[in-house]
Amino acid sequence: MSTPPELTSENATTRESAQYAKNLVLIGAGKMGGALLEGWIGLGVDPAFITVIEPQPTAAIAALSARGVRINPDPASIRPDAIVIAVKPQIAPGIMPNVAALTRPSTVVVSIMAGRTIAFLAGALPDNAAVVRAMPNTPAAIGRGITVAVPNSGVSSAQRELADMLLRATGAVEWIDDETLMDAVTAVSGSGPAYVSLLTESLARAGEQAGLPAELAGQLARATVAGSGELLRRSSVDAAVLRQNVTSPGGTTAAALEVLMAVDGLDPLMERAVAAATRRGRELA
Ligand SMILES: NC(=O)c1ccc[n+]([C@@H]2O[C@H](COP(=O)([O-])OP(=O)(O)OC[C@H]3O[C@@H](n4cnc5c(N)ncnc54)[C@H](OP(=O)(O)O)[C@@H]3O)[C@@H](O)[C@H]2O)c1
Repeated sequence: MSTPPELTSENATTRESAQYAKNLVLIGAGKMGGALLEGWIGLGVDPAFITVIEPQPTAAIAALSARGVRINPDPASIRPDAIVIAVKPQIAPGIMPNVAALTRPSTVVVSIMAGRTIAFLAGALPDNAAVVRAMPNTPAAIGRGITVAVPNSGVSSAQRELADMLLRATGAVEWIDDETLMDAVTAVSGSGPAYVSLLTESLARAGEQAGLPAELAGQLARATVAGSGELLRRSSVDAAVLRQNVTSPGGTTAAALEVLMAVDGLDPLMERAVAAATRRGRELA
């Protein structure tokens, strides 16, 4: 997995510079769209190349117009190289005709809408439109997300590079070819941040049960999950090795792991949870 590129005047290559000079349209500047927008500007994309379509821009988004971002301009004036759709999946049918009207033969359309398939997107766009379906996750808000992307056959290598740059602005990007995996991807990394939050809550509750004051238990659980996450991020070894590193035979961690790794422990529970999310993803699509 590669890390997000950092653009400085020293390391900007000609190819990267050319990629940054593309007309980008963001449709929906909410939590995810806002994170992408912030990421693009942070990467060094000239705000003058960015158009935002958003019925109720927040004050922070509206303020970007002073830096050159075009907000809700006349659609006839927009000639996008890339369109990123970041509205809720429920309103997709309503906005797709507008996206289709903006889509030129050279435009790549990138959707981060959960459950909206390539067939749905391509079916609403002009014939042979280049479409990328992507699934980010909420750590995108701090540049630590991971996005899985799948292209359709209309996506050229240059369009894929452009889509990669746009998505990488909020963290790592993995490309796959098999769209049927997207429900499992959603179940693991899309919904995963909620599981980690639940783990934090659950660890805090267990600490309380073991006699700790609620506030201290909450603080310990939160700092432990956050610190362990950071250790995982910085380390090149497997999670299993990090686990073994803190487990002395016959010690306290080993006693807890005996429970968590029992046949009815965390593995079957997580398997059931991810399977349920995968099933639900399929149903919603
Ligand atoms: N959050 C996640 O964890 C996550 C993870 C992976 C994928 N996603 C996907 O990311 C997408 C956005 O999610 P989000 O959490 O960022 O939602 P959000 O905060 O509600 O953002 C959606 C934005 O779209 C705007 N919008 C509504 N109608 C519009 C229109 N006709 N044209 C342009 N913009 C319009 C909304 O404005 P109003 O608020 O005024 O309606 C809102 O600002 C969803 O499709 C979701 O499936 C989210």
